Amino acid sequence: MINGERTIARPLRWGMVGGGRTGQVGYKHRTGAQRDGTYQLVCGAFDLDAERGRDFGTRLGVAGDRCYADYKALIAGEKAREDGVEVVSIATPNFTHYEITKACLEAGLNVICEKPLFFTVAECEEVERLAAEKGLIVGVTYGFTGHPLVHQMAAMVRNGMLGEIRIVDMQYTHGFNAGDDVGAGEAVKWRTNPKTAGPTFVLGDIGTHLYYLSEVVLPHMKVEKLLCDRKAFIPTRAPLEDHATVLMHYDNGARGRLWVSSVNAGNMGSQRYRFVGSKASVEWSDSHPDQLFYDVQDEPNRILHHGMPYLEEESLAADRMGALHTEGLGDSWANIYLWIAQAIDAKTRGDEAFLKTHHYPDIKAGTEGVRWLENCVRSADAGAVWVDFK
Ligand code: NAI
Repeated sequence: MINGERTIARPLRWGMVGGGRTGQVGYKHRTGAQRDGTYQLVCGAFDLDAERGRDFGTRLGVAGDRCYADYKALIAGEKAREDGVEVVSIATPNFTHYEITKACLEAGLNVICEKPLFFTVAECEEVERLAAEKGLIVGVTYGFTGHPLVHQMAAMVRNGMLGEIRIVDMQYTHGFNAGDDVGAGEAVKWRTNPKTAGPTFVLGDIGTHLYYLSEVVLPHMKVEKLLCDRKAFIPTRAPLEDHATVLMHYDNGARGRLWVSSVNAGNMGSQRYRFVGSKASVEWSDSHPDQLFYDVQDEPNRILHHGMPYLEEESLAADRMGALHTEGLGDSWANIYLWIAQAIDAKTRGDEAFLKTHHYPDIKAGTEGVRWLENCVRSADAGAVWVDFK
């Protein structure tokens, strides 16, 4: 169980690029990072509007002279200090991730970056090499994958409780873009423009969460082929999609079905996963994250609750609240941030043995998300045809 006890020698000096007052995801980073005293927010370039960013930063408790106009000023300003920042989170629109990550790594800073990590696998691999050369960590914030019941599913699969996995069924949908984009805010504008979003809209925006979570639960299974059908129901969003379905064939013969959509009018269901094995299935959704459905063939269906002693060790180790008390997205983000802090700490101490067995969403997790997107786009743009996964 995680109880806030410090697991690294001292808090990491932490900064943020983006995630300003009007940003959607910024608070999730701050609530995750600051939960266990493993990070101390010392600086930021929080906003495209430098004045608003400074005002916001000082209200977060950051010194005015460490609220910078942009990431370049942050890197230069912090480099000049003995107590300069050590790790920077990037919570800006997709098209800026690559440039800012590279600049931070070149300046010797660890990075925690939003998904989708970059636009291309080539960029991911280049940055992976750079991080390795510099001895630095890049983490990726797939928010809900820190949840104890996600790790319960992983442990159950590993222990054979489901049998051989046959079917992977995943959905992440909402209806917030069911209407057109006339008068839409910045966060919709950049998401629907290929120059700022990259080669996808909903596939990258929400589909990468599904794909990474399935990798956490099913690390032994690899996609061999996929077929992606994507469409912009609001034509101004084309060539990007506001709806997509992806069929997948896995190397163990399993079949996958994934649905992402931001035009599922009226739907607030968010993320749902069902992993079906030859003996039993598990189903989890962030609509009721404290419960895991465990359906064994020929037995009454069960609901497992987080924090209960009957769960696997891996799940209990990630639990914060204990049974009866709801455990949700903020707790999951705190786990992700904690695990990345432990990775940075180990890297700094040169503890490669720890890193070998330590699990957190690393640059490979970011790269695999981008690789999956490249394959989806290749399939969809060839007319929704089966493609070998490259
Ligand atoms: P947003 O448009 O709501 O906010 C972006 C923030 O970054 C704003 O404060 C803006 O002023 C600032 N900004 C933009 N460019 C900047 C720059 N060059 N330098 C400094 N600040 C800059 O965007 P949102 O929704 O917060 O998304 C940001 C990133 O987070 C995206 O990559 C998105 O895919 C990801 N995201 C991830 C989520 C998750 O669950 N992991 C949830 C929501 C978004």
